[in-house]
Amino acid sequence: MSLVSMKELLLAAEKGKYGVGAFSVANMEMVLGAVSAAEELCSPMILQVAQVRLPYSPLPIFAPLLLAAANNAKVPVAVHFDHGTELSCIEQALQLGFTSVMIDASKYSIEENIRLTRQVKAMADKHGAAVEAEVGQLGSTEDGKADGEAMYSDPKEVRRLYEETGVDAIALSIGNAHGLYKKEPKLNFEILQASKELVAVPLVLHGGSGISDEDFRNCIRHGIRKINVATATFLAVEQAARDYVTHAQHPDYFLLSETMRLGAYENVKRHMLVFGSDGKACV
Ligand code: 13P
Repeated sequence: MSLVSMKELLLAAEKGKYGVGAFSVANMEMVLGAVSAAEELCSPMILQVAQVRLPYSPLPIFAPLLLAAANNAKVPVAVHFDHGTELSCIEQALQLGFTSVMIDASKYSIEENIRLTRQVKAMADKHGAAVEAEVGQLGSTEDGKADGEAMYSDPKEVRRLYEETGVDAIALSIGNAHGLYKKEPKLNFEILQASKELVAVPLVLHGGSGISDEDFRNCIRHGIRKINVATATFLAVEQAARDYVTHAQHPDYFLLSETMRLGAYENVKRHMLVFGSDGKACV
């Protein structure tokens, strides 16, 4: 069990037709909560941190924590660097032992996206790590802040990036967005279906927080294998902490810490059950 490559998890998910949750975490409580949910459900999982979060979770300190959690887990866990935009940060993540990295060059032209993705693929190959790239633009950064117009993925560009880079996973823009949805998301399953038919690598859905269970299942039916969830976990932890501090007669730091761990655990567990990854680490 323990630390594995994201590639291996996603190929198994492709075979078994389920989704693997990639859960963004920011501190030890979230890591422990997420791993305990995976262990209880016997589910594979991906732990990830995005470049934009590094001011709060510095890589040289957080990477060893993530890797130790994965190495000590009773289920397979991949450790992924999410939304890398600077090559120096991606290189640092690779050197620290992340088993996969995302290069997010989606805001550039497809030619520039391919050029940068190839560069990262060559860097990752030296470390035996997998690479995720993105085609189309979500219109918001990983921290939910607006960053420009959303642009749906063009399946022809998805195929071009796949053929010209050899990446291990491709993230799509099909009406999904990071952070809280301002109105109910309307996912474009035709783009997903068309992309799936053109590439032979697992597809990724970002912006998992706020997607309905039915849409998650539909995405998985149409070929999504990695599903990113961040905001829902952060909110669950924050809410659990707020409830505890509001209601405890004599708030205790360590009980607060345990409450936050449980907040992450509940949210991760709920998503794993919807993604159908429960029981898949035991077969
Ligand atoms: P949410 O914050 O909307 O769950 O998005 C997470 C994500 O896609 C991380 O890359």
